[in-house]
Amino acid sequence: RTLIKGSALAAAAFGAGMMLPLARRAAAGSPLNLVAHDGSATIDGQNITERTMSYRLGEKSNPRDGLPPVLRMRKGEAFAARLVNRLKEPTTVHWHGLRIANAMDGVPEMTQPYVYPGDTFDYRFTPPDAGTFWYHPHCNTLEQMGRGMTGVIVVDNPQDPTFDAEIVLNLRDWRLGGDGQFIEQFKPRDAARSGTYGTVRTTNWHKEPVYDAPAGGLVRLRIAATDVTRIYRLGLEGGAAKIVALDGNPLEAPFPLELFDVGPGQRMELVVRMPDGEGETVRLLNLRGSTPWTVASLRATGASRKGDLGDVTPLPANEVPVADPKAEIIPLDFTATAEHGARASICGSLGYTFWAINRVAWPGDTPDRIAPLAELKLGRSYIFRMANRTPHAHPIHLHGLSFRAVASNQPRLLGHPTDTILLQPDETADLAFVADNPGEWLLHCHIIEHQKAGMSSYVRIS
Ligand code: C2O
Ligand code: CU
Repeated sequence: RTLIKGSALAAAAFGAGMMLPLARRAAAGSPLNLVAHDGSATIDGQNITERTMSYRLGEKSNPRDGLPPVLRMRKGEAFAARLVNRLKEPTTVHWHGLRIANAMDGVPEMTQPYVYPGDTFDYRFTPPDAGTFWYHPHCNTLEQMGRGMTGVIVVDNPQDPTFDAEIVLNLRDWRLGGDGQFIEQFKPRDAARSGTYGTVRTTNWHKEPVYDAPAGGLVRLRIAATDVTRIYRLGLEGGAAKIVALDGNPLEAPFPLELFDVGPGQRMELVVRMPDGEGETVRLLNLRGSTPWTVASLRATGASRKGDLGDVTPLPANEVPVADPKAEIIPLDFTATAEHGARASICGSLGYTFWAINRVAWPGDTPDRIAPLAELKLGRSYIFRMANRTPHAHPIHLHGLSFRAVASNQPRLLGHPTDTILLQPDETADLAFVADNPGEWLLHCHIIEHQKAGMSSYVRIS
């Protein structure tokens, strides 16, 4: 693997990258200490933003480098991490997209107790799939994630081909005022629509970072959309790329990136062909909304390696069971709701209810449990027929299992396993899966205001 030399900006952004070896799974018996903590960071490039929340490995911290570490795991190998809560409020860790045991899923009141300030919780599991995943709390999520607690997970597969470089991009916004300090996390009228957008857009906690990569080389770009609201429409300028994986799962047929939507919670892996000329850049752009803006740039260094996107072959697939096409259909209706009021929770409440699944509104982590959407038989196939009866897109995430879109009334890429489907306005889509992981699994919109304002539920598999 090629060493990537950094400019001043890239070097700053790479401070975290250099911690990657430390982040590797620890030897058996000595878990990583994943410390949830308060801090501060220079997020808008000029002011010190106080009261950020993040993760670090171990107790030592650099308050100016707040980005949660990239956690590297290996497919089929045991991983262990001890969550140490140094926040002033309860928290948990959810390992988004990893098909692991229910007791490790990180949902308070459902799969584990709250982890109170000063307490710890030991997570142990073996990731079955290789790819790009992520981690975040499942308690007071709008606040904790909004203030920084969204980190990327890379599960390596030793069988993967090697590339000239690999770069991880953690895409997210911040709701900051002109002085760089946090402002209110949401506005009720926006929570009732597409969600409240951040005011400062970052990649790896930097504005428009630039990374150096070998000229003419093939770069594996692991992109995770960890924002609580924003749906990205990603495209490239100044170079070409193929999409090789989506939401932690390799594509059977990689295809060229033109424009592709990536919603909150989703991931996209690209192989980017760097320009041949030293100093030339490829820009990753967001083209959703009226003004395109740069997510990150890659700058070519050294003599051209003459890489060829035509040489890019599919990555080895994950073993996700294929559902019986004649499986039982479970209708799921996503609607706005007329229900008012909200449920109290130690894990935070928005104080509003705007959304529902099958006409029931629930924020997802309260002690007063609703009935499950369905009781599923372990090992059986099912199809969620998801109907989005709203004029807004909803990234719907299922915990603990992967499903495949097998039909839709709108143009959509079908067939790859995923944990989060970006359901478009008025879309009806069939999501097929084998209920092979026992337990209670949340299903919710990953626009966190939508989740916390009611678009959340769960299924029970036994
Ligand atoms: Cu990424 Cu229930 O969440
Ligand atoms: Cu939503």
